[in-house]
Amino acid sequence: MTPRPVRKAVIPAAGFGTRFLPFTKSVPKELIPVVDKPVIQYVVEEAAESGIEEILIILSAGKEAIRQHFSPAPELEQRLRERGKQPLLDELAAIGGGVRISYVYQHELDGLGGAVKLAREFVGDEFFAVLLGDTVMSSTTARPVTGQLIDAYKRYGAAAVAVEEVAPELVSRYGIIGGRTLAPDLVDVDVMIEKPAPAEAPSRLAVASRYLLSPSIFAALEQTPRGKGNEIQLTDAMRSLLGRERLIGCRIAGTRHDIGDKLSFLENTVEFALRRPEFRDRFMAFLKEVAAREQAKKEE
Ligand code: UTP
Repeated sequence: MTPRPVRKAVIPAAGFGTRFLPFTKSVPKELIPVVDKPVIQYVVEEAAESGIEEILIILSAGKEAIRQHFSPAPELEQRLRERGKQPLLDELAAIGGGVRISYVYQHELDGLGGAVKLAREFVGDEFFAVLLGDTVMSSTTARPVTGQLIDAYKRYGAAAVAVEEVAPELVSRYGIIGGRTLAPDLVDVDVMIEKPAPAEAPSRLAVASRYLLSPSIFAALEQTPRGKGNEIQLTDAMRSLLGRERLIGCRIAGTRHDIGDKLSFLENTVEFALRRPEFRDRFMAFLKEVAAREQAKKEE
């Protein structure tokens, strides 16, 4: 039987973003810019380019600016029209990626699992994607990372999770999977351990911010008690389904960029700025100048 197409995606964006305080005291971390676009816009674009038609964004009080970013701005548009700024108007019109976006509020911030739980009605009985709202994924192929998970789902008719190989000393920061290799980049997952000590890690493959889940995750989430950090962990619910439902680990052709972490934000700002032809040469020259200055200071 051909699996049904994946049409829906959930983007959790309700968290406090404590790793990026004080900025996130009043501004959602999902609106942190990477050069000139907020993180969550990259996420919505990835979903749209993967064929997703409907998105549910999970919000919390004080994060309405996210909703505003994806809503029309008639006065601004009028001003741009009057001034003949058609390219900017086109850019604004393209912000939502042509996808239908709706919102739901997470009143108690009980974790990623708690956020996904709120999507039950929106999802119904279909497989669906989950994309973390604070993480950009760049793909090294024409297919975005969420699209790569959808391809695995189509091939095996099973849920899938993006994984990325991390250095051995970093396994204790992530959810790590283990299982049987199906193809060079695909694993039939039989174990998932949250933040293992390096000696206990079944592999170096870390869960990487994108999921393609079966609707049975909702019943599993109902049965999932609060775990680490007193939060409902999505990986705990996924683990409870292992053995009953197949889960494919997909080593992504691409890279995860976690913008909710300060150092990673700084590194990615540089990386993404260098990808832009209008900034590349001047920015590169600036970086070299800064590096030379710092080196000279060190040698003084
Ligand atoms: P994180 O664990 O990185 O988010 O969740 P956080 O709790 O906001 O961040 P820190 O660790 O305190 O800095 C990844 C994504 O899941 C959302 C976040 O908004 C983020 O986009 N999330 C997290 C929710 O929607 N609800 C939650 O209860 C927790």
